[in-house]
Parts: sequence; structure tokens; C-alpha cells
Amino acid sequence: MMVHIPNVLTPEQVARCREVFDQAQWADGRVTAGHQSAQVKKNLQLPENGPEARELGDMVLAALERSPLFISAVLPQRVFPPLFNRYDESMSFGSHVDNAIRPITGTSLRLRTDVSATLFLSEPESYDGGELVVEDTYGSHAVKLPAGDLIIYPSTSLHHVTPVTRGVRLASFFWVQSMVRDVSRRSLLFDLDMSIMQLNKEVPKSPSLVMLTGVYHNLLRQWAEP
Ligand code: NI
Repeated sequence: MMVHIPNVLTPEQVARCREVFDQAQWADGRVTAGHQSAQVKKNLQLPENGPEARELGDMVLAALERSPLFISAVLPQRVFPPLFNRYDESMSFGSHVDNAIRPITGTSLRLRTDVSATLFLSEPESYDGGELVVEDTYGSHAVKLPAGDLIIYPSTSLHHVTPVTRGVRLASFFWVQSMVRDVSRRSLLFDLDMSIMQLNKEVPKSPSLVMLTGVYHNLLRQWAEP
């Protein structure tokens, strides 16, 4: 289940990210990588607890809270404070699966990574390469989105970022622990929610809407670990 969520950030917010990036000190991206992924990771990151990452991270978190599509697709229980990365020419991130458990630095909290997320912050025409490629049971999907758009995919997937061959690829990335751990259940709930919303537009007074909305909540009640 991959879901594209357009316009999570406004053009002004994307511009603010780029302004901060221009002034920031970038560090080696391997600081947050596990043993296997450190061997294939070649990029730069904003330091995790630096003021730049926190300012922009809070902006991303606030934007996610206002996104009904994100909430419906992910059913977030806990969101990792967003991180930011940069791929210059010839940088890439080879094939890996994200670590299952992430301690949240500066707290005693941990998060199980159910959903992985990439928020694109460079316009696609400003760089070549740098596609996020996600493998699932239906094959591999290459993703490169407009600045401000988000892609979410199951953290269980093998994925990589192809080498950047021109320009700079900037992005935010983070993980989410979902209230519904199983991706097939999450996907059913998402399809049901989207159908209910569509039906609500097409036949707003239908009594079936009450029933279907009830089914949605009763499934969520059975499956969610809030
Ligand atoms: Ni990854």
C-alpha cells in the first residue's frame, strides 16, 4: 500500500525549508543508519536534534495533523520527529529495509516503524536520478514527486534511492507507528474510508452511509491498539 499525499507543505513552507537548508551544517547520513544500511547509505542529514531539524520537523508534524488523507491512510499512533536529508551528485542509498524499532532521541519512547514516509522538498526538474524505488509484491515502484508532496509505504518493504546524477535532492523522512499494525487491515480501512467519503458526495442522505460508517468504526475498534 503506497499512498501519494499531495501538497502536505505549501510552496511558502517548502521555501522556508530551503532557506534553512542553505544555512545549515550537514552531517554524514550514516548516523541514523543500522549496521546493514550504513554500508549502502551515502547522503547527508541535518543533525537530529539541531534547532534546524526541530523547527522544520515541527512544521511537518503540524502539516500532517491537518491532512485527512495522511490520517486515514496511516492511522498514526506515534510519529517519529521528521529528519531531513540531502543527496548531492553521485550520492545514493542502496537497497535496505528500515530498522523495526527506533528510540526517539531525548526521550524514553520507542516507536515500531509500520509506515515509512518521504516528503519531497526539491522540484523534480531540478535534479536527475534520486528516485525512491519501493519493492512490493506487485513489483517495484519508482517515485519522484513535486516539492511539498509526501509518499507513504510499508516499512516492511525493501527500498532504495537511485544515484543523483545532476543537481541536489532534498527531502524529509520519518516513520510512523500505526494504531493498526497489519498493512492489509490498514489498507482495507483506508479503502472503506475513501469509499464512504465518495458515497457521501454522491448520495449524501443514504441510510447505508450510517451503516458503513458504523462498520468502519467497529473494524477500527477490533483492530486498533490506540
Ligand atoms: Ni529507508
